[in-house]
Amino acid sequence: MAEKSKGTAVIIERVKSGVPGLDEMMDGGFPKGNLVVLSGDPGSGKTVLCWQFMYEGISKYNENAVYVSLEENEETIYEGARQFGWDLQKYVKEGKLLIITVELYDFERLKAAIEDNVKTINAKRVVIDPGVIFRLFFDRELDARKRIVSLGKMLKLIGTTTIITNEISLDKLTSLYGLEEYVADGVILLYHTKIKNRFVRSIAVLKMRNTEITESLKPVKITNDGIKVLEKSELFDEVD
Ligand SMILES: Nc1ncnc2c1ncn2[C@@H]1O[C@H](COP(=O)(O)OP(=O)(O)OP(=O)(O)O)[C@@H](O)[C@H]1O
Ligand SMILES: [Mg+2]
Repeated sequence: MAEKSKGTAVIIERVKSGVPGLDEMMDGGFPKGNLVVLSGDPGSGKTVLCWQFMYEGISKYNENAVYVSLEENEETIYEGARQFGWDLQKYVKEGKLLIITVELYDFERLKAAIEDNVKTINAKRVVIDPGVIFRLFFDRELDARKRIVSLGKMLKLIGTTTIITNEISLDKLTSLYGLEEYVADGVILLYHTKIKNRFVRSIAVLKMRNTEITESLKPVKITNDGIKVLEKSELFDEVD
């Protein structure tokens, strides 16, 4: 291949998503350091995917995580994740996971807290769920944009691979907050597709910097073990 023979090919380090079938849709995983917006309609599985990204990251790949959540207390998070067999509390105790609940912070404090926490445990993964958090801090659109961009730059600088979730409306599939345009190196869409008389959970990688992506929509399933991408269009076929 031309690039390789010239010695110019750049090897992109990949961060495994922890979601069976997803890495195959994006050339082996998230490019390290990418900031990915995970957009989806309510109940589409965004939070489950984020928990899985963090839990598997720690348990399988030894990559610590910082989790920014809107939940009022950590107990609610532990309980939710436990249903999938993920003991996040254990990782907090072991110093592999730090949870930031945001009500205490204004934006600059939140940003500083993320940076401090990432450095404290040498985290490689950051999750901000839900991304609507940002809207709590600003009245003016322009302020929000500037600050979100500055947060994105900071995360890039400290080298974490980051997922920010984003709510979309099912009808229009348009972003309610426009996060994608401001910060995203990658966009993953997780949503309910209506096929005949039922909704099928689906996933698509819309963009991912430095990555050859599978553009087709694939069905996903949520079970007691978490979320997974199905190999073929099994569920789509079923409803034909
Ligand atoms: N054990 C399980 N087996 C199958 N499905 C499950 C299981 N546990 C939860 N679910 C499904 O997972 C979905 C919850 O997903 P999740 O909370 O991650 O969605 P979300 O996209 O974060 O939603 P929101 O926008 O409201 O935050 C629910 O629709 C629920 O039905
Ligand atoms: Mg959620």
